[in-house]
Amino acid sequence: MKKSFFVSTPIYYPSGKLHIGHTYTTTLADIMARYKKENGYDVFFLTGSDEHGQKIEQKAAEAGVTPQSYVDTIVSSFKDLWKILEIDYDRFIRTTDKDHVAAVQKLFSNLLAQDLIYPSKYKGKYCISCEEFLTAEQMDEGFIHKVCQKEAIDFEEETYMLRVSNFKKYLTELFETNFLEPEARKKEMLNNFINNNLEDLSVTRVSFDWGIQVLENPKHVIYVWLDALSNYITALGWGSEDNSKLKQFWIEGEVLQYVGKEITRFHAIYWPVMLQALGLKAPDKLVSHGWILSKDTKMSKSLGNVIDPVEIIETYGADALRFYIANNLPTEKDGNFTNDLFIESFNTNLANNVGNLISRVSNMIIKYFDGLLPSVEIEQHPLIKSGEQTIKDYQKYMDQYNISEAVQSVLKLGNECNKFIEDVKPWALEKAGQISKLNEVLAILQRNITIIIYLLKPILVKSFEKMFNQMGLTSNTVNFETLKAKKFNYQKISSKEVLFERIK
Ligand code: MSP
Repeated sequence: MKKSFFVSTPIYYPSGKLHIGHTYTTTLADIMARYKKENGYDVFFLTGSDEHGQKIEQKAAEAGVTPQSYVDTIVSSFKDLWKILEIDYDRFIRTTDKDHVAAVQKLFSNLLAQDLIYPSKYKGKYCISCEEFLTAEQMDEGFIHKVCQKEAIDFEEETYMLRVSNFKKYLTELFETNFLEPEARKKEMLNNFINNNLEDLSVTRVSFDWGIQVLENPKHVIYVWLDALSNYITALGWGSEDNSKLKQFWIEGEVLQYVGKEITRFHAIYWPVMLQALGLKAPDKLVSHGWILSKDTKMSKSLGNVIDPVEIIETYGADALRFYIANNLPTEKDGNFTNDLFIESFNTNLANNVGNLISRVSNMIIKYFDGLLPSVEIEQHPLIKSGEQTIKDYQKYMDQYNISEAVQSVLKLGNECNKFIEDVKPWALEKAGQISKLNEVLAILQRNITIIIYLLKPILVKSFEKMFNQMGLTSNTVNFETLKAKKFNYQKISSKEVLFERIK
């Protein structure tokens, strides 16, 4: 039976255009989805938009339109962005989708019936921009939310509460596993929330309308986070008549969820509580990644310091952006995105290392062997062993969801190949008439380049076909099995296109 894999991004607020930060998360998920498909998994890749809540209601009012028409326009810009970035999701869920709304109402009723949700009152500080109740530690002086620098409001309402405090033992046990990465975030959750003061969560609002109605008490709308978190299972059919996808992908599949660190608490605490209450497992892995900074602060719409991914894609192409994200932004720490860093990485890695290697080697195969190398024994060569080791390293890292280390292992092989060319000087072998040695050298390079291209395929989705052609291959003849079985079906090379031209 085929194995199944589920991967999700957070669903983004349609309160403005998306920026590089959102692009980061979504690209990581897309790369993982493509990698798992290469490994023979059935994959469900979910992304979408989180459309309800007070912030959206306010934004729509400012724009003088209804919330629905406000979000419709922005959501279509999300989809346009994902299209040009080659994001190949299986569902784009909108929390205004009818099936989601019905399922969330059902979920609420279910928890209410179990007495895990109860009517109450809540008083506290609330950040509208982040749609989050804040603890004292989350605010600076003057009740400024540290994450977004916005002032929190006083909140005092009649509300339904979720009995999070009932789940302390469950959470403590869950946090003994490796479900949340990185380790530092796990400690933060334990110290600040789970072991500190695990409070019940207010999960309905009565002071505005733009949300999913509580059927049992229609003056309440469901708190936007309860609505939003549910998307990961309503998208798979939870609460509907057909739960085959839920069974295949969540219950029996490998579940990976990507989130930015500022929303870890929702995904590492409240979300597992909801799942446990419904009798479902927590995600197998929650990767909480760092921020893309702009001059030391988080890049964000509310701070107004964002980089527009559309401009980057239109100027340099989707692959260039996908590559920077995969290679230059390891998830366990904060990263930077500037034009200079982006261009430097492109030139060093894609133009000089990979692109140059492919064009040098294909040119030599064309020049010295008319595009097709006679077959020759190369299996014992150290560089062939390096290529085999690279496949193993890459798979090990990818299986740990460590995309940047995986890419680095591929680039290392590229550098070794370039150095090999400098050391053996194929042009000198030709001059000296050492044709069988020349044949061997080029065959070793062609093999390793095939590996490099294949391993970068989940990232360089617009270029891999061209890259394979330049090595005399069609992409559908290369996969992990053919690589491991050393079955290569090289055809005569004629293509001489320049890949990844240096950015000046
Ligand atoms: N709607 C909620 C998520 C609900 S999920 C059930 C939300 N939306 S958001 O539009 O604010 O997007 C937040 C997500 O965008 C972060 O978790 C992260 O994935 C991404 N990022 C936004 N800014 C970012 C950076 N500057 N750097 C890295 N990622 C960032 O929160």
